[in-house]
Amino acid sequence: MSTRPLPAAAASAGAVDLFSKFDPLIQIREGLLATGVKDPFGLVMERVLSPTRAICNGKETILLGTYNYMGMTFDDDVIAAGKQALDEFGSGTTGSRVLNGTYAGHKAVEEALKDFYAMDHAMVFSTGYQANLGIISTIAGKGDYIVLDIDSHASIYDGCKMGDAEIVPFRHNDISALEKRLARIPEGAGKLVVLEGVYSMLGDVAPLKEMIRVSKAAGAMVLVDEAHSMGFIGPNGRGVAEDQGVLDEVDFVIGTFSKSVGTVGGFCVSNHPKFEILRLVCRPYVFTASLPPSVVATAAVSIRKLMHGHNKRAHLWENSKRLHAGLKALGFTLGTEVPQSAIIAVIMPDLEKGAAMWEALLAEGLYVNLARPPATPAGMTLLRCSLCAEHSDAEVSEILRMFENAGKTVGVI
Ligand SMILES: Cc1ncc(COP(=O)(O)O)c(C=O)c1O
Repeated sequence: MSTRPLPAAAASAGAVDLFSKFDPLIQIREGLLATGVKDPFGLVMERVLSPTRAICNGKETILLGTYNYMGMTFDDDVIAAGKQALDEFGSGTTGSRVLNGTYAGHKAVEEALKDFYAMDHAMVFSTGYQANLGIISTIAGKGDYIVLDIDSHASIYDGCKMGDAEIVPFRHNDISALEKRLARIPEGAGKLVVLEGVYSMLGDVAPLKEMIRVSKAAGAMVLVDEAHSMGFIGPNGRGVAEDQGVLDEVDFVIGTFSKSVGTVGGFCVSNHPKFEILRLVCRPYVFTASLPPSVVATAAVSIRKLMHGHNKRAHLWENSKRLHAGLKALGFTLGTEVPQSAIIAVIMPDLEKGAAMWEALLAEGLYVNLARPPATPAGMTLLRCSLCAEHSDAEVSEILRMFENAGKTVGVI
C-alpha cells in the first residue's frame, strides 16, 4: 500500500502526502497479513444470537471479548423498553441536549444513574469517550494540574489534551509515585487526580483507597473512570470505589453504557453542588446530538435491573475465577496473578504469535480481543478475554478446551 503512487488529487507538485505518517503501521499490518492470518481487526458479527454467542464467518462462535459483562443486551425488559421508545419517540432526537435533544427518557436515565450511585447529579453523554473528553477538559483548565496513571484510557488522555491543564503522569498503580507528583505541584494550583477502577488491558484493579487518601491529603479532586467495574464490582455494582469503601470521597465517577449496561452512551455522576453548570460549558455535551430515545430507554431499564444483579455478579465472579485458574493450569501467562475483574489478559510472546493464536481460537469457535501497542502497556501483545455473567459453566469448560487446542497448535503452550 505504501509503495503505490499517490492518487491524482494528492499528487500535485510539492504535495506532502499526509498519510505518510501511517507508513510504519501500514507495513506492520501488511507484513502480518502476508503471513496468511486473517485481519484480526476486521471481524464481522454476521448474526448475534445471545450475549455469549454469534455467527462469525458462518460459524457459531462463543463471545469472550465483548465487555458485555452482565449480559444485558438480550434482556427481555431492556429490549421491550427500546421498542416502545422507538414507537413513541421515533428513531433519533436530531439535536443537542441543550436544545431539542432532551426527552423524558434522557431525564429518566439520569434519574436511574442517581439512584444507582446514590449521588445528587448525573449527566449523560453520547459515549463514555465523550464523557471523559468533556468532563476532564472542562473542569481542569489553564493553570490547573491533572495527575493521571500512565496506563489511562485514550479518552482520558484526549480529555487532557483538549483542555489546557498541565499533565503529570505517574507510574501505573504506584501510590508513592502519585504522592510524589502531587507534592511537586505549586501551592494554590487546582489539582485533578484521574484514576480508573479496573484497567482494561490487564484487568487489574487500582488501589483506590490509598490513592484517594493521598490525593485528598494533597488537596486534589478525584475522578474515577469505572467503565469496566460498573454493574459488577462492589456490593451494589457501583465499582471499585464502592468495593474499597471510598465512593463518598470520589468527586466524579465516569462510566459507560457500552459495557455492563449493554448499549451505548456515557455518563458522569457527582455530588458537587455546582455540577449542573457543566451542562452549559462542556463542549462534548453541548455540541453533539443526544442519544436516541431507544438507547436511553434501554439504558434506564438495564441500570435499574443491575441494582438487583447480585446473583449475576456472583456467577460472573465464579466464571472469572474458573477461567483464570484454568488458563493458568494450561500454562498460559496471564496479566494478573489472581483474577481481579471480569477481564483476563493472556500475554502473547509477540504480535505474530498473538495474531496466529487469535485466528486459531476463532477457527475453534471462540472470539477474544487481540490488543497490541500503543493500546497495551509495555509493548505487550494481549489476548483479552472479558467474561459475561451469562456464560454458563459448560461454556467456560468449552472455552478452556479451545484455548488448549489453539495454544498447542500455535505452540504458545
Ligand atoms: C476505561 C474506559 N473509559 C472510557 C471508555 C469509553 O467508553 P465508550 O465505549 O462508551 O466510548 C472505555 C471504552 O473502552 C474505557 O475502557
